[in-house]
Amino acid sequence: MTANIDRDRIALLTKQMEERLLAQTLRSGEFVDEAKRVLPAGVASSFQDQPPHPVYIVEGRGSRVTDLDGNVYTDYHNGFGVMVVGHAHPVIVEAISNAAHKGTHFAAPNQAAVRVATELSRRFRLPKVRFSNSGTEATLDAVRLGRAFTGKDALIKIEGSYHGHHDAVMVSVGPDPDMMGPRARPVSVPQTAGIPSALLDLTVVVPFNDPDALDKALSERDDIGTMIIEPIMLNIGVVPPLDGYLEAVREITAKHGVVLIFDEVKTGATIAAGGVVERYGVVPDLIALAKATGGGTPIGAVLGTEEIMGQISSGKVTQIGTFNGNPLTMAAAEATLTKVLDGSAYQKLEDAGNRILAGCQDVCDRYGLPAYAVGMSSKGCVMFSTERVIDYRSYVAGFDEDLNYLGWLYHMTNGVYMTPGADEQWTLSVSHSDEELGHYVAVFEEFARDVTS
Ligand SMILES: Cc1ncc(COP(=O)(O)O)c(C=O)c1O
Repeated sequence: MTANIDRDRIALLTKQMEERLLAQTLRSGEFVDEAKRVLPAGVASSFQDQPPHPVYIVEGRGSRVTDLDGNVYTDYHNGFGVMVVGHAHPVIVEAISNAAHKGTHFAAPNQAAVRVATELSRRFRLPKVRFSNSGTEATLDAVRLGRAFTGKDALIKIEGSYHGHHDAVMVSVGPDPDMMGPRARPVSVPQTAGIPSALLDLTVVVPFNDPDALDKALSERDDIGTMIIEPIMLNIGVVPPLDGYLEAVREITAKHGVVLIFDEVKTGATIAAGGVVERYGVVPDLIALAKATGGGTPIGAVLGTEEIMGQISSGKVTQIGTFNGNPLTMAAAEATLTKVLDGSAYQKLEDAGNRILAGCQDVCDRYGLPAYAVGMSSKGCVMFSTERVIDYRSYVAGFDEDLNYLGWLYHMTNGVYMTPGADEQWTLSVSHSDEELGHYVAVFEEFARDVTS
């Protein structure tokens, strides 16, 4: 049975926990004022801004990070899902150090890039690879390749999905419910000021987990040549595809002659060696990778079929970047993919993921929390919603932001560094111990007991 949640009590606990976090992070609080003199909001990326104030991190080792005030936390944020290898892993440090000693940048071909590309191609079952430096660049390249291949300008994406910060995909990422229009025909809502309105008509939006809506949208407009989809939605917690959905997406896009891009920036190398492609057995035309594949260095990659990627070799599509495939990143990526994230690492992540999910679900059940635990392998979260979230609209309708924020404060004030905001999830690393996972669940239980008593 779902417990009754006393909203006044939640507000009071939130105030107390915020005060505790502020007291624990005094130096971060002081520093943010200094930082604001040069960095808008005191941070290098708006994702790093968070209430009650940003917490500055000075060091990370293995599963632990230390903040400016000297507080040590077990890290479940892991750099927005990058550090599956753990912080300062000796194998990666050695690889980066060796590369640094030989010169970090030439903007010339290097052999390590070929080895990394070969490994990515093996894992993700697509023959050709090009590198860049971020997820944004990876999805930008993928969208451009799709548009060039079909000769069609319009793109279709999923409502509530994030694919980086370039114009084509900064549409309906987290639209205000008052602006998103009817479910049958979602409005394309710009995510930020500065997106030219002329571009909005080129990005069509459909709900996740709804193959009929996709088929209908593609039947209605014949100028859509490319689809980009995060096959597990990981920017509204964790929303897995329903059974058969990804297969249907593959079939429908093929039927309409639409190039299918999987955005595996978050899932790639984290939920399995070969991400969603391996886990679900569905192979798209293009894949965007970034984050965990670089082992903590800035990386992006687009993988694709011979035909689509052949546009690069022929010169039809320009894919460029000063730092693409730079030796530092390639050394870190090679060590990550061939030495650290091997079969036994993925087994460990699978077991750890199952353990933390089972622990959190048990707490939800025993305390009647209006929430459930969901995830796979290194990725997971507690969704504060009584109904299963299957798309952005069910997320907006049922998600309890207040409980989510309070849960985050409990963790932050009890030695657990977690991603702020409702949209993220935990990422486990190969360094997390059973004891640490148990601690996460124990803090979650303390929170559950307090909010339901
Ligand atoms: C699914 C997805 N795609 C693309 C990106 C953009 O990656 P980056 O921040 O490296 O540009 C992100 C970033 O969080 C993401 O979650």
